[in-house]
Amino acid sequence: MRTSFALASFGLSLLLGNVASAQVTDADLAAAASDNSQWLSYGRDQGETRYSPLRQINDGNISDLGVAWTFDTGSFRGLEATPLVANGIMYATRPWSSVFAVNARTGALIWDYDPQVDRAQGYRACCDVVNRGVALYDDKVYVGTIDGRLIALNAQTGAVEWEVLTVDRSRPYTITGAPRIADGKVIIGNGGAELGARGYITAYDAMTGEEEWRFWVVPGNPADGFENPDVEFAATTWDGNWWEVGGGGNAWDSMIYDEEERLVYVGTGNGSPWSHEIRSNGVGDNLYLSSIVALHVDTGRVAWYYQTTPGDNWDYTAVQPLMLADIAINGVLRKVIMQAPKNGFFYVLDRVTGDLIYADPYAELNWATGVDLETGRPIETPHARYDTSVTMIMPGPSGAHNWHPMSYNPNTGLVYIPTLQGSVFPYAIMDEFQFVPEAWNLGIKFGTLEGEPVTPEFEYVGSTGPATRSPGALLAWDPVTRRPRWYHDYDFTINGGTLSTGGNLVFQGGADGVFRAFAADDGELLFEADLGVGIMAAPMTYELDGTQYVSVLAGWGGSSGLFGPNYDGAYKPQGRLWTFQLSGTEIVPVEGQPLPDLTAIPFDESPARLAEGADKYIQNCGLCHGADGASGGAIADLRYASEATYDNFHSIVREGAYTALGMPNLSATVSASDLDTIKNWILSQRAALMAQ
Ligand code: HEC
Repeated sequence: MRTSFALASFGLSLLLGNVASAQVTDADLAAAASDNSQWLSYGRDQGETRYSPLRQINDGNISDLGVAWTFDTGSFRGLEATPLVANGIMYATRPWSSVFAVNARTGALIWDYDPQVDRAQGYRACCDVVNRGVALYDDKVYVGTIDGRLIALNAQTGAVEWEVLTVDRSRPYTITGAPRIADGKVIIGNGGAELGARGYITAYDAMTGEEEWRFWVVPGNPADGFENPDVEFAATTWDGNWWEVGGGGNAWDSMIYDEEERLVYVGTGNGSPWSHEIRSNGVGDNLYLSSIVALHVDTGRVAWYYQTTPGDNWDYTAVQPLMLADIAINGVLRKVIMQAPKNGFFYVLDRVTGDLIYADPYAELNWATGVDLETGRPIETPHARYDTSVTMIMPGPSGAHNWHPMSYNPNTGLVYIPTLQGSVFPYAIMDEFQFVPEAWNLGIKFGTLEGEPVTPEFEYVGSTGPATRSPGALLAWDPVTRRPRWYHDYDFTINGGTLSTGGNLVFQGGADGVFRAFAADDGELLFEADLGVGIMAAPMTYELDGTQYVSVLAGWGGSSGLFGPNYDGAYKPQGRLWTFQLSGTEIVPVEGQPLPDLTAIPFDESPARLAEGADKYIQNCGLCHGADGASGGAIADLRYASEATYDNFHSIVREGAYTALGMPNLSATVSASDLDTIKNWILSQRAALMAQ
């Protein structure tokens, strides 16, 4: 594939070295698959396969892996970026959308850029103030910021070259995804569906920042007129007043440019609100939600679309990583696009026509029994369209696979997917829905569901029958035989992005802070090292001066860092960028902060007051400080707060004392007496912890 191009441009960049102004050209991007000294874009090559042919580190010597260098990020929240390497410089991002550049040989800092986003707006990020990385083109580094800007920086100095606001700040848009480069344009999407937003992606001229086109994922208010016929067509699949909340569809992660077809493929998000009934009166497919859409690179107009979840009702985004490969199916070489979206089916489509080739369950699920290959539609189970009683549906909103990148190895023919096998959720339509700006508008009951009527749990279906797998598993999926080849089961959910190499290896980190390597062909666990902090981001690799390096960002956070406990005796370890090589130094884990000894603080034990406190806590605090009072380790666990902090509760929560740290001023939604009730409940949880 495109090898002649590759050799030509590789020679050219050697000649020009660092003095050339255009450091990353279209030809470099097209040839990225065979350029082992660099990692030029989010998914490494044009197909985003995250496969590197490098094999100096391989299944025979991986036990000799040690540290080449490390760089402490100074951050304590989630790290999700894949570092990029060009011309010997590594670029990565950290929380609050800051970007840093280090020497890829030594880890020495070259520059550090903080876009100064308003920390008080951090609550708009559904799933932590994370960032998944930059794009490189010409002599620029592009980053999308959590407050909706797209910024071009000088790759050598970090100085701002241009900056555009890509969103309407009066709506709760956020950007966490890495920009992509397509035919001289830089493309960026956004998130915000949960709070109420209308999703879109925008293409800007990479040199000037001028807007070239915008693809609206969902239609706006028909009374305002439609932007183009694609939107007008989509509107025929909606009902009610969806535009008041926004409709959603936010494309916050996956985009791929296919140079040969001149198409940009984008994975689109879930509906807003989640409930199809509330969003669209239960009517229509709601295009282009939860779809893979192919756009013409020149115009942003739709070439084809495939909707993975028509009439989304479960937060089943199709923003999960997209991957292009050319594989033989029934003896015929097909240009395919592959995806393992949240809904639990692995899709293989013809990327030229958009025709569905295969769709098979890659995780246990009970919302559908399969996908009809003729119509392309899922065959839903009877209770999937839940009502106001609680129905346990698999997968839940975290999906059977989330943003954590998958990789492909052409030697084994396998796709390595970080899966969430045990994802299940109690869905129930809200009795009365009212749109509340800046709040979560899901249209479902959320919080304590005690006493709510329950639909009897219905049988799990899917590839493996009843739910038997562990909560998380690295799955090696064969897209040709349509079956799992091997699994590695974990006793926790979040297992990070993957990298596969010519050394017959798959690298992956996990929530447990352990970095692992497996044999790509049979899944044998060949290497483990405790890094001391949960890992979600995908590893990457590159070779300089004859040495192969493997790098990964370790930093706990993201939605799981907010929702679920992930620490043991210590919490909030600092993030670290690790780079490994053979015969490196010993791997010593990052140390977390020790948990303080707790002192007893009296509280009001009346059950009614405690129940009210629990409810108000979940509504107002649980998203960041942990659903049941136990934090996921990224943001303070309030049970461990000092007595002085409890004394300061009112100034912290209602007067904005900690907005610079990302703690919003909640005076508009939490009254003084509500806060006392919340604090009382937190103290009860502290006492329960002490009693353990
Ligand atoms: C949008 C996320 C978010 C929400 C919602 C939120 N907080 Fe916070 N809170 C933070 C962040 C970020 C900090 C800064 C400390 C950190 O990063 O751990 C913080 C800090 C605090 C602290 C100081 C903790 C300490 O030990 O220093 C208190 C107390 C606190 N929050 C109480 C609350 C209460 C009570 C609620 C609900 C009424 C709430 N917060 C809702 C994000 C949030």
